[in-house]
Amino acid sequence: MLRTNFRFEKDTRSISYSSVVLDLKLLKAPLQKEQELQIHHTSQTRRVSRDGSRPNFCYGVRRRERAQMGVKRLGIGLVGSGFMGRSHAFAFNAVGQVFDLPFRPALAVLADRDEAIAAEAAGALGFERAVGDWRRLVDDASVDLVAIAAPNRFHKPIALAAFEAGKHVYCEKPLATSLADARAMVEAAERSGRVGLVGFNYLKNPIIALAREMIEAGEIGALVAFRGIHAEDYMIDPDAPHSFRTEPEGGGVLMDLGSHIVSLARHLVGPIEEVSAMAATVHESRPADGARRTVPVEDHGHLVARFQNGALGALSANWLAPGRKMQLEFELTGTRGTIAFTQERFNELRVYAAGDPPGRGGFKTIVAGPDTPPYGRFCPAPGHQLGFNDLKTIEVAHLIAAIAGEEAPSPDFREGYEVQRTVTAALRSAKERNWVRVDGV
Ligand SMILES: NC(=O)c1ccc[n+]([C@@H]2O[C@H](COP(=O)([O-])OP(=O)(O)OC[C@H]3O[C@@H](n4cnc5c(N)ncnc54)[C@H](O)[C@@H]3O)[C@@H](O)[C@H]2O)c1
Repeated sequence: MLRTNFRFEKDTRSISYSSVVLDLKLLKAPLQKEQELQIHHTSQTRRVSRDGSRPNFCYGVRRRERAQMGVKRLGIGLVGSGFMGRSHAFAFNAVGQVFDLPFRPALAVLADRDEAIAAEAAGALGFERAVGDWRRLVDDASVDLVAIAAPNRFHKPIALAAFEAGKHVYCEKPLATSLADARAMVEAAERSGRVGLVGFNYLKNPIIALAREMIEAGEIGALVAFRGIHAEDYMIDPDAPHSFRTEPEGGGVLMDLGSHIVSLARHLVGPIEEVSAMAATVHESRPADGARRTVPVEDHGHLVARFQNGALGALSANWLAPGRKMQLEFELTGTRGTIAFTQERFNELRVYAAGDPPGRGGFKTIVAGPDTPPYGRFCPAPGHQLGFNDLKTIEVAHLIAAIAGEEAPSPDFREGYEVQRTVTAALRSAKERNWVRVDGV
């Protein structure tokens, strides 16, 4: 029942009364159709975008209501148990304790490259069964969702087989090893009617949701420029061996790290229309199978870009930047302000807004807390900080809400394809030494 006691908070652009928050549909829909209004109970005020889009996190309904409705099991099949596989497992284990969800993830099957590795990982991560061949996982009736955390060249065959078997797919970035493969994956996802989500987890940061909200609200004016970089130093040693990251197809720093900064640029500014890029290989050979083999991909790449909305950009990716551990960083210039961010301090947003008195202006630092949802799901105290695996947990909460039809999957496979297309245009530009239109590749 709707009752009074509404409080319209202009500053946060949300409506709340006591502990009940109303979906934005209330702002748009006439109130007479009470049964159509979705009321979400939450202990926090929910932020909503001015354009009416739902933010990328789910609140769902209260745990008690879920219990009454009956929470269904969602069988998880995880392929790969390395860096990302462990992060996926962490998120699937944690998500039910943090969010109220329509499905209860059950860690059903883990696949790795052989039985022994899979069995050891399944035991450590809490999976019911282990298999040494991902095809058996895809065909397993207890698996509803296939999570792909294996090297890039496996993304396409696993995703196509999973959609064909009627499963939902959660695929790590980059979506594929080539644009043609990425297109085939989008087509398979859309044909299947199942959910496909790509693991661009940095988009799920509550402080990035705030940045997007500020941009949409016009708080820094019209967007003028985006300066972004993703630099780390894990390939700085010339003796760091070849891996899937240095394979000619789907490898290279622009695919590996560049895809993250491109996805952030698209998320905040919009589609990129054309690019001009340069790329270089610093360590020309690396060890493989007891010998040194030529490195066929770039170690660093840099591009200038024109966005569809007229903003200009400069983006870099570098995996041999000494001292840089997680420099996923951007500065966004608007006509009336600036937003700056670095993933190394990812609970903070630095904002400059014009209009302060002379001599009193400067950047302020906004620190994440319960006012930047869904932070409060993890911790009631501001400034205590989320960690990397919490972003993965938010991503998995959104994925489960999408599977239940409560939210539109984002970034979906089509968005993964668009990121891949932008990176492919940059690689082509670097090779041909000219400007390349993204819609032309
Ligand atoms: N979203 C992010 O922030 C992020 C971060 C790192 C990596 N990634 C992506 O995650 C994926 C995995 O990267 P990683 O760093 O976890 O690599 P990793 O090398 O740490 O792990 C890869 C796993 O896949 C397994 N594997 C190899 N061949 C297999 C096969 N034939 N069948 C099943 N499993 C197999 C390996 O044994 C290992 O367990 C890549 O696509 C990468 O780009 C995403």
